[in-house]
Parts: sequence; C-alpha cells; structure tokens
Amino acid sequence: MKKTVLSGIRPTGDLHLGNYFGALKNFVKMQDEFNCYFFVADYHSLTTHPNPENLRKNTRRVMANYIAAGLDPKKCALYIQSDVPEVVELYLFLNMNAYLGELERSVTFKDKARQQPDNVNAGLLTYPVLQAADILIHKADFVPVGKDQEQHLEMARTLANRFNHLYQTTYFSEPQAYNFGENLVKIPGLDGSGKMGKSEGEANAVYLGEEPESIRKKVMKAVTDSGPTEPNQEKPEAIKNIFQLMSVVSKPETLEFFENAYNTCQIRYGDMKKQLAEDMILFTTPFRERINELIADEKGLDAIAAEGAEKARISAQKTVAEVRETIGF
Ligand code: TRP
Repeated sequence: MKKTVLSGIRPTGDLHLGNYFGALKNFVKMQDEFNCYFFVADYHSLTTHPNPENLRKNTRRVMANYIAAGLDPKKCALYIQSDVPEVVELYLFLNMNAYLGELERSVTFKDKARQQPDNVNAGLLTYPVLQAADILIHKADFVPVGKDQEQHLEMARTLANRFNHLYQTTYFSEPQAYNFGENLVKIPGLDGSGKMGKSEGEANAVYLGEEPESIRKKVMKAVTDSGPTEPNQEKPEAIKNIFQLMSVVSKPETLEFFENAYNTCQIRYGDMKKQLAEDMILFTTPFRERINELIADEKGLDAIAAEGAEKARISAQKTVAEVRETIGF
C-alpha cells in the first residue's frame, strides 16, 4: 500500500521561488509514489485575524500556485482546510488531551505572542493541536517539514500517543518528518542574507505569479558589493546568493560566463543582475500565465477545490467516526 504524505500551507498569497524549489517541486514528484494530501490551512490563518476579502483571495492564489506548479487534482487530494469541517471536530477532541504547559512552551507560540501582544488568542495557543488534527485525520505517515515545524510535528506524535494511551488503542501511528535530502534546494533571498521568505520583506522574494517589471526592479536592487579585487577570490555571502539564484534559473553556460567573469575580476554586477532578472522572468512566466488563467476562471477553481474536498472528506469522515466511537459517543 502507498504511504500517505500530507502538507499544509497558510494562505499567504503567491508562493515564491524558495517555496517552489524547497518544497513544491518535490511535492509534484511525490504525487505518483504516495497517497498525497495537500491543502491550504485557512483555519490556521484566522489566528492573525485576516480580513475576509484577503483570506479568500490568498486562499485561491495558493490553490492556483499549487496547480500551476504541477500538483494534479486528479493524482492528489488538493483542498482547502475549511472545506473539510471534520478537522474541527478532531481538533476539539485533541484539545481535551493537550496541556496548557506544553502548548505554552511552543516556540512558534512564544514568537507569535511577542509579534502580536494584543492578540494572544486561544487559537494561537492551540495552533499545533489544529495542525495535529490536519495530520492525524488522514493518518499521514509523512509530513515534509522545515526546521521551524518540527516541534509541531512532535506535538502531533505526542497527541497521537496520548489518545492511544487514554483509550487503550493503537489507532493512531506516529507521523514522521519527510526529508527531501539532496532534493532540498536552498533558495537565498535578494537581501544578501538568509533564505528567501516573505517575512523578510516583499523585496526579498520573487513570486511565481509576479509581473516581469516587478521582478526586474527587485533583482536590480539585490545586494552586491564593489566586486572582487583578486582572481579566484572566495565569494562573500551576498554574491554567493546571486550565483545560487542564477544556478537554478539560468542556463549552465550563463552561470559559467559569470563565474569566469568573477574569477578574472571582470564581473559587472549590473549586467549579471539584468541577466538574472530576464532568466527569472523566463522561468516564472509559464507559472504566472497559468496562475492568472486559473484565478480568472472562478467556477473552474471552485470545482477543483470541491473535488479535493470530496476526496479529503472520505478519509476525514472515516477517522472522525472511528474516533467518536472510541471516545464513547
Ligand atoms: N503550520 C504550517 C506552516 O505555518 C502550516 C500547516 C498547517 C501544516 N497544518 C499543517 C503543515 C499540517 C504541515 C502539516 O507552515
């Protein structure tokens, strides 16, 4: 039997190249090998009180990005979390076995509480419980997660084991982290440090649905320096980043040309960034066009979401029915 893989993402709008090379591209490959559930975690985003229009728009954009990147609604269950209300019932049950102390120790809770001191709501505290419900409701074997989500996955294991103990069953098994290993391509941001991410500021990331003019502007502003002074000099962080970005979107001979120019101290970063921008535009254009098509066809996207929800609800309803019976309802 195929193992089950599950991943969720909060509706933050378009996905960037970091999301694509770090996860999405691998998800696309996993569709044939695994029984896959991919969803937009729109319930989770309520912890930050989004306005309804943005919530709807960003949820749809993530769906469109997923499909444009190659997730096939026929091969996997591609759904919106709130279309599967069974998850809320499991969340309630799991909440009864989640302890205040352990929830307060969550790193993401502490971070969020610091970021939004005027809105430290109970949903924020029980965010990992909802995430555990997402995972356990489909009895996922594997969850591809980054470092920042490991603690949440640990919580899912804890809650699974606690449920088993309490009701003397072996019903839930422990979901494991899925490591992409060598297929995990780290994508740096444009600001000269760290990885590409939205939280580092809009200008730090290039999005799959981004307009060419906007990409040009951002890339031209990417951090560089005054250039090498000695042949074959080691590259500083910001320069390594530009080369790394070029290595994923440009042709090998383009990369080689600029490597040579760097090593012979003839490099002109303005030229390199112009080339990088054009190659990023070439790379993202098919995604952008497909995303725009999907967003324009409102009914079509609704139908895809409905198809995904239907698939997801089959396993969700089964789990909730079994859990209810175990609990004694
Ligand atoms: N917490 C995850 C994030 O912020 C999103 C998420 C919600 C998720 N439910 C999940 C990820 C279940 C994996 C599995 O990125």
